[in-house]
Amino acid sequence: MQIKQQSITVSSPATVANIVCGFDILGFAINQPEDFYTLTISDTKGVTIINEDNFNLPLKAEENVAGAALLAFLEAVPEINGFTLISKKQIKPGSGIGSSAASAAGVVVAANFLLNNYFNQLDLVRFAMFGEKVASGVKHADNIAPAIYGGVTLIRSIFPLDIIPIAAPDLYVTVVHPQIEVRTADARQILKQNVLLKDAIKQWGNIAGLVAGFIQHDYELISRSLEDVIIEPVRSILIPGFYEIKNKCKEVGALGGGISGSGPSIFMLSKTKDIAIAVENIMKEVYNAIGLDYYTHVTTINQQGVKIIN
Ligand code: HSE
Repeated sequence: MQIKQQSITVSSPATVANIVCGFDILGFAINQPEDFYTLTISDTKGVTIINEDNFNLPLKAEENVAGAALLAFLEAVPEINGFTLISKKQIKPGSGIGSSAASAAGVVVAANFLLNNYFNQLDLVRFAMFGEKVASGVKHADNIAPAIYGGVTLIRSIFPLDIIPIAAPDLYVTVVHPQIEVRTADARQILKQNVLLKDAIKQWGNIAGLVAGFIQHDYELISRSLEDVIIEPVRSILIPGFYEIKNKCKEVGALGGGISGSGPSIFMLSKTKDIAIAVENIMKEVYNAIGLDYYTHVTTINQQGVKIIN
């Protein structure tokens, strides 16, 4: 193991997990919003966290998503005592666009860069999942993998970890984040533990169709496959205006979309920027009418994942 440099700043992307039908197994990274992390090798044992954002996240490393991921990383490199982390998050926790994964993925990629990329991407996903566990109580990689690999990723299996990057077209992504908080742990708890065979058949048809649609750049197939008969009917009750937004966005030309991760953000995929902006206008109209505050983002799929800044 070789130390390349003492300190590094990275940006880490927001991500859309599930991509409608692929609960816990599909996700993609987006170009906006993103977090910034500066990581420095330290002689002090463990992880010292300095928050330079407004989110007041825990300073105890084992209770902090980025801290827990870094502690897992440190266990694998006993030669290093610790890290100091300066966190400048912009992705709001509880938004459904992978705030915790951006933290966990960003800091392990940064740590690995400092050690001259000693670990491979699968190792980094493994470390980062310790952070995701702090956030939601379970290890899932459908936000972390796209944040680390960039683009669309398929998590075929968690144990053992098997991640397949999927070559997808450069689609536009519109996201609306209504200003309510849905905790991932709560949004998981309300899910039914059993699935009817007829629903499972529909769901795996859609997952296979979506993956094939991405690889073949078949927009009609992508559109038809953006259907979720298992998770969305349960979780959509937590999101005001969900079906109105979804239906109206499709009417103005969106390929489709749904709940981003565990919500409350909603995302829509579009072929062109004009459609993505029309979709944003629909989202604004619906939430203005409901009287709910929101943020929107019109962005694209991020093909790179966590970026080294300096
Ligand atoms: N796949 C996860 C879920 C993503 O939907 O609960 C949220 O982090």
